[in-house]
Amino acid sequence: MKRILVTGAGGQIGSWLVPELRRRYGEEDVLATDIRTLAAEVLRAGPFQVVDATNPKAIGQAVMRHHADTIYHLAAILSAVGERDPRLAWHVNMASLEAVLEVAREQKCAVFTPSSVGAFGPNTPKDPTPQDTLMRPTTIYGITKVAGELLCDYYHRRHGVDTRGVRYPGLISYGAPPGGGTTDWAVDIFRGAVEGGRYTCFLRSDTRLDMMYMPDAVRAAIDVMEADPSRLVHRNAFNVTAMQLSPQVLSAEIRKHVPDFRIDYDVDPVREAIAQSWPDHMDDSAAREEWGWSPEYDMVAMTEDMLKHLREG
Ligand SMILES: NC(=O)c1ccc[n+]([C@@H]2O[C@H](COP(=O)([O-])OP(=O)(O)OC[C@H]3O[C@@H](n4cnc5c(N)ncnc54)[C@H](O)[C@@H]3O)[C@@H](O)[C@H]2O)c1
Repeated sequence: MKRILVTGAGGQIGSWLVPELRRRYGEEDVLATDIRTLAAEVLRAGPFQVVDATNPKAIGQAVMRHHADTIYHLAAILSAVGERDPRLAWHVNMASLEAVLEVAREQKCAVFTPSSVGAFGPNTPKDPTPQDTLMRPTTIYGITKVAGELLCDYYHRRHGVDTRGVRYPGLISYGAPPGGGTTDWAVDIFRGAVEGGRYTCFLRSDTRLDMMYMPDAVRAAIDVMEADPSRLVHRNAFNVTAMQLSPQVLSAEIRKHVPDFRIDYDVDPVREAIAQSWPDHMDDSAAREEWGWSPEYDMVAMTEDMLKHLREG
């Protein structure tokens, strides 16, 4: 039995994770929360409450009323949006995590917090990027992610809070749009292919990044929380990846299904610089060894599934 509270539930990950959590643990047992009201389908499917995750009192009351024992903390400002408003990114990402961890300490909850490939920096080894390595990110988003990983480790070591997490690569999904990250191109390219047969990319054609299809990302979040704690050497920030994609490589795969698909480039220097500072290929062997991580979707399977669902509308 689990009673779960999800913050930032209306975003790209939450809109997939909440239905899967409800399917596994029961509709009434999963309370979706976000700072904004969510789409009707999310509201109808189970309990929902507007909660600002940076407000410790509001989080504490929601956890207490729902009798939650587990918090999936997804509320955050992502990389590209963070560079436009660094103070907002620092405030939302750090204040919300601190609030969630304090509530978890007081009310004895387990906490899942996603870190990101963005926690690495330009002097991190790029291929493979080890689980434990040099981390000097240059974006405010990355800085909050490294600080968050360390804070989660600290709450486990110092207060015994059951904190766990993964470092997600760029996530590809249909449904809720991505929230302003550097890997959004890998979602937008599919919409472009289906809607007009063309896409203008904000990254260079050969810029390669780690990626994952959303069903695998959802499974990773649930599996790491279900893992036998005695097997965990790491707890937070497990590297996880499924494929390495550049716009050139993914557009060639899309062309197998949409032969006339055209991609052109209008490179955004801010997002290109962020992408250049991130790994090409994370080594996820620690996740594989400690809790059995293994992705199901590669580029071929993901492309087929994305196009099928987007065409069905
Ligand atoms: N999507 C990716 O590719 C990706 C990759 C790596 C890591 N992550 C991490 O996963 C988590 C979720 O990402 P996402 O892609 O779903 O983000 P998103 O931007 O799509 O969604 C974030 C949600 O948080 C909500 N939110 C913002 N401020 C809030 C606040 N103060 N209180 C409550 N809710 C608030 C927003 O309304 C939004 O619904 C983040 O921590 C992100 O850094 C995402």
